[in-house]
Amino acid sequence: MGEPGPRPAIELLDVHKSFGDQSVLAGVSLVVPEGTTCALLGVSGSGKTVLMKLIDGLLQPDRGTVRVAGEDLSRLGVVDLDRVRRKLGILFQGGALFDSLTVFDNVAFPLRERARLPERQVRERVRRALALVDLEAAADQYPGELSGGMLKRAAFARAMVLEPSVLLYDDPTAGLDPLKTRSVVDVMLMGKQQLHATSLVITPDVATAFEVGDHLALLHEGRIVEHAAPDAFRQSRHPAVRAFLHDWLERRAQHASSDSTASH
Ligand SMILES: Nc1ncnc2c1ncn2[C@@H]1O[C@H](COP(=O)(O)OP(=O)(O)OP(=O)(O)O)[C@@H](O)[C@H]1O
Ligand SMILES: [Mg+2]
Repeated sequence: MGEPGPRPAIELLDVHKSFGDQSVLAGVSLVVPEGTTCALLGVSGSGKTVLMKLIDGLLQPDRGTVRVAGEDLSRLGVVDLDRVRRKLGILFQGGALFDSLTVFDNVAFPLRERARLPERQVRERVRRALALVDLEAAADQYPGELSGGMLKRAAFARAMVLEPSVLLYDDPTAGLDPLKTRSVVDVMLMGKQQLHATSLVITPDVATAFEVGDHLALLHEGRIVEHAAPDAFRQSRHPAVRAFLHDWLERRAQHASSDSTASH
């Protein structure tokens, strides 16, 4: 049956997750092949962050299987789970740097905490990570002194400093203006090219999804209702995809007209 494709880096099979009597995920299946970027779309509250926490092992599914780099998380003990989690670089929603640490020390944190590298190597790797996101000049600044776009880039440097093979981004462009969104998108594209990492980019923003995704998926009413290459996704006949793309175009049009009548 032809060439075997790349191996899946992330695999969710019929995953269910409820909180009390609220069902959030009701049979999610999603496979992200190694080295590709999947953009996951979904409205607010659809369960995108819950899905990310399942992949990171912060939450356990009620039913179904979550595999990272081929390993079924439910079968791993604490030590092995920690080993698998080290393959993940995570950019949490909201970024969350430590306010009391400089940018340098924030980025150094995973190296000191998890890898326990000698200080000379720490310095070298932090310098490299900051250079990748063009933040060397801000190394000694504190998060409170940075712009929103710089904060995201610093958070990215921290997420990738352990050179993860899988990157998870939760809503990385939230609250950023178009220029800062651009610079974060550039950083994600760079992450893909330079680290050859597999990425899952969670976003409610269709433009970002089309820019970074090799394939796009829509989470709707607890399931992945479409998962396809950009062109096929754009042409999907699924009503939820049509509605999602339509709403986004309308919001963008409204935004454009309010921008032209009022200065922003
Ligand atoms: N630990 C939890 N306990 C109870 N309910 C939770 C918990 N975590 C998430 N939920 C609920 O699950 C649903 C999905 O939440 P989630 O954070 O995954 O949404 P989201 O798609 O990431 O939304 P957004 O785009 O606003 O970030 C929400 O109704 C939320 O209240
Ligand atoms: Mg979320």
